[in-house]
Amino acid sequence: MQALILAGGEGTRLRPLTSTVPKPVVPLVDRPFIAFMLEWLRGHGVDDVVISCGFLASGVHNVLGDGSAYGMRLRYVEEPRPLGTGGAVKFAEDLLDERFLMLNGDVLTDIDLTAQIAQHERTGARATLALVPVEDPSAYGLVRRNGDGSVSEFLEKPSPDQIDTNLVNAGAYVLHRDVLAQLPAGQHVSIERELFPRLVDDGLYGYEASGYWLDIGTPERYLQATYDILDGAVETHVTDAYDAAHLAVADGAELHGRVVGPALVGARARVADGALVTGRSVLGPGVEVAEGAHVDGSVVLDGAVVGPHAHLTQCIVGPGARIGARCRLGEGVVLGECVTLGADNQLAAGARLSPNVSLPDGAIKF
Ligand code: GDD
Ligand code: MG
Repeated sequence: MQALILAGGEGTRLRPLTSTVPKPVVPLVDRPFIAFMLEWLRGHGVDDVVISCGFLASGVHNVLGDGSAYGMRLRYVEEPRPLGTGGAVKFAEDLLDERFLMLNGDVLTDIDLTAQIAQHERTGARATLALVPVEDPSAYGLVRRNGDGSVSEFLEKPSPDQIDTNLVNAGAYVLHRDVLAQLPAGQHVSIERELFPRLVDDGLYGYEASGYWLDIGTPERYLQATYDILDGAVETHVTDAYDAAHLAVADGAELHGRVVGPALVGARARVADGALVTGRSVLGPGVEVAEGAHVDGSVVLDGAVVGPHAHLTQCIVGPGARIGARCRLGEGVVLGECVTLGADNQLAAGARLSPNVSLPDGAIKF
């Protein structure tokens, strides 16, 4: 079974995490985000994956390689310029099988693709979209269905007065290659706005999925995904490594302070005496948490250092960042790669600092 993963968006809403790394390979808990997607696909019989890259494509290739680590064949296509979701699949057309799966590359999910494919076969559809319920459909593609499961309307990013169902497009499709004939080649086109509405009454079906589903495209949702993985709310292999206290501690990590599970501590990470890690946190490989520091509900990526008595609440710290003594980082703060904060800085209210920014001692009390 073949799958095409769209991974060419710039990930602007996840900046500065995506300033230096393409969104698909931004680390989530303990692996590149898209690895969760590959493992899920593998579990549903997918062994051939084409990744449609745009922005920082070589970065994706360098991290994922030829797919042997995931038990599948991985190939990459790179558009000369971003062609949109429809343009991207059209650009990859020559590599595609007659029937294939197409996935938005920014979704963490464990929905049952096998059941979706079975429904697709049963109905004789040309395209079957997985549908999931969300609280506010306005940021998604709203899908209305007939009694037989066929789609009666597809509305991308509906306005408030158009919302009369909470079922939206999950970004997981079973497609027949022949539907691509309706898309122009080499042009920027949206599959959601230009193809799906045209396939209404022409073989477009919706499959109502149950299970976990989250578009991880913002820092808030990235943290939510982290918590859900650590809680085991979504099926992944991360929790396989848990001890009785729901702690996954990699080789060579040194825990002198207290780490409350569920939590994950990467290889060679070090939590000093008197430090505290709580609230479903992740410490990447080589991270250091100094004495008296408190990391709560936060993700601290590879090699970052949390200084003595610093306090982090629900924030994301990029790789190699250095946080000075007694700094306080509040909810939603995101530090890019190698940001350096001198002692006694206070950041709150979703502040984001670009990679390599350096602040002297006491520069910000926000
Ligand atoms: N190759 C390539 N080229 N990929 C692209 C391009 C492009 O020009 N533009 C977007 N993508 C990829 C993104 O990287 C992402 O993985 C996927 O296509 C969807 O694009 P988003 O920009 O994340 O779209 P969205 O989240 O606003 O809406 C889409 O996803 C929702 C579910 O999360 C739509 O498919 C909605 O209908 C859907 O509900
Ligand atoms: Mg998205």
